[in-house]
Amino acid sequence: MRELRIAAVADIHLGEDLRGHYRKKLEGIERRADVLLVGGDLTRHGTVEEGRVVADELRDLQIPVVAVLGNHDYHSDHDRDIISILRDAGIVVLDDEAAVLSVDGVRLGVAGGKGFGGGFAGKCASEFGEPETKAFVRHTREIAERWRWALKDLEADHRIVLSHYSPVKDTLMGEPPEIYPFLGSYLLAEAADSEGADLIVHGHAHAGTEKGVTPGGIRVRNVALPVIKHAYTVYCLNGDYC
Ligand SMILES: [Fe+2]
Ligand SMILES: [Fe+2]
Repeated sequence: MRELRIAAVADIHLGEDLRGHYRKKLEGIERRADVLLVGGDLTRHGTVEEGRVVADELRDLQIPVVAVLGNHDYHSDHDRDIISILRDAGIVVLDDEAAVLSVDGVRLGVAGGKGFGGGFAGKCASEFGEPETKAFVRHTREIAERWRWALKDLEADHRIVLSHYSPVKDTLMGEPPEIYPFLGSYLLAEAADSEGADLIVHGHAHAGTEKGVTPGGIRVRNVALPVIKHAYTVYCLNGDYC
């Protein structure tokens, strides 16, 4: 089976002033990668106008593009509109679900969505106390459950989880520990570990670290643009960089 090359980036934070700039950096990506994964924070403030810029920058690439939204993309309450705009541009947008792409006869399954926070085992919030705290943690738990089901049903040769929030602490190194609970949750890693995946890609932690691993041994890569410092990074599924 042919080795798939996975291009990945997150936190591109596009707006009208950057129209055309990111697209230029994607020139020739079809010679370097088989798919492009974009891990959320596509916009700055989640406006429809910014969503249109993202769609125009990513449309009609010669390789499939799979994206999830990030917290910034929810800020103006137009997350559903942004998802529609992106899907109309041919981009596969995952909203706590999975998709299977066929790449030269190889079935690549990608599952995921925005994810959410709550912290990491031993230092995390729990569904206890005020309704607001319970709602915060319940949101993450319900997302993790949807990912678990999406992965359970996913029939593919390779499986990737695409998230905005981080499933592990490793890739947050460099961020202040005080904000870890707002950067990710161990429940996301538990979902992936329980059903299995070859790779987890996320963003959100601009000051974090690229490489980590879940307790179950799945490689985790923080591809936030300020971390990878390139328009995208290309990973192989059985090694690392391609
Ligand atoms: Fe971001
Ligand atoms: Fe973010």
